Amino acid sequence: MTDRYAVVGNPIAHSQSPRIHRLFAAQTGQDMDYQALLAPLDGFAAAVAQFAAAGGRGLNVTLPFKQQAFQLGTRISERARAAGAANTLSFSGDGILVDNTDGPGLVRDLVLNLGCTIKGKRILLLGAGGAARGVIRPLSLEGPRQLLIANRNADRAGELAGRFSSPGLAIAGCGLDQLGGQGFDLVINATSAGLSNAALDLPAGLFAPGSVAYDMVYGRETAFLRQARAGGASVLADGLGMLVEQAAESFLLWRGVRPDTAPVLRQLRQDAADRR
Ligand code: ATR
Repeated sequence: MTDRYAVVGNPIAHSQSPRIHRLFAAQTGQDMDYQALLAPLDGFAAAVAQFAAAGGRGLNVTLPFKQQAFQLGTRISERARAAGAANTLSFSGDGILVDNTDGPGLVRDLVLNLGCTIKGKRILLLGAGGAARGVIRPLSLEGPRQLLIANRNADRAGELAGRFSSPGLAIAGCGLDQLGGQGFDLVINATSAGLSNAALDLPAGLFAPGSVAYDMVYGRETAFLRQARAGGASVLADGLGMLVEQAAESFLLWRGVRPDTAPVLRQLRQDAADRR
């Protein structure tokens, strides 16, 4: 019998996950079906229970349900616990395993697809919401020299930094308005400002020579990436690679097979070009 999976969110119609997982399944010869599932804003847990009761094997979870998904876990991965949120559920006879593949997806995109070194580098993470929180532990495991979290609301950045600081890596938090005079090798935009195309108030000199600017938003050149280009960043990347890599991590968890992401990423970029 074909194994059933889905991505659940609200809204969900524009999710690329069904396209990505169907390409993975075709590539690896896995017998699986993957759909998009719209859950009512007040009905996430019921939608999950119904999907599992009908024989569903696993779910990806997107906005706004990632924190609720984490709460449903009977087994919780280390990376989901660090993120306080889950984007991947796996159902088995004895309960629900919850995982979070967003952070590992970002790191794989940076290191493998973009050739970016994290070890020993100065990293600036913009934002202190759920998207930022999900990537701090995976980034810090790569051994950067510095990890600074900057947020419009400085207190939120400080709180997040305190939560993740360890003897091996001092993580600091500050306000966006306290960034003057500092340069970074990698600047990651994890704010939701890109969704509304709002520009962040960033000082000059933030992008060191040879630096990488990464926006987790995908599908268009955001105000942040325009700022980064003007500011001299050498590599500009949107979050499409992260989307494909987090999907591959979920696929690996469910099926025990790691798909080749490169042709899928190429196909998605081609899809986007065809739509234009
Ligand atoms: P998400 O789960 O997508 O991270 P969130 O938890 O609502 O969503 O967090 C949104 C993040 O984007 C926050 O860091 C927010 O900054 P504040 O904590 O100061 O609100 C940031 N953000 C959103 N719009 C922004 C803007 N126009 N300028 C600067 N930061 C912005």
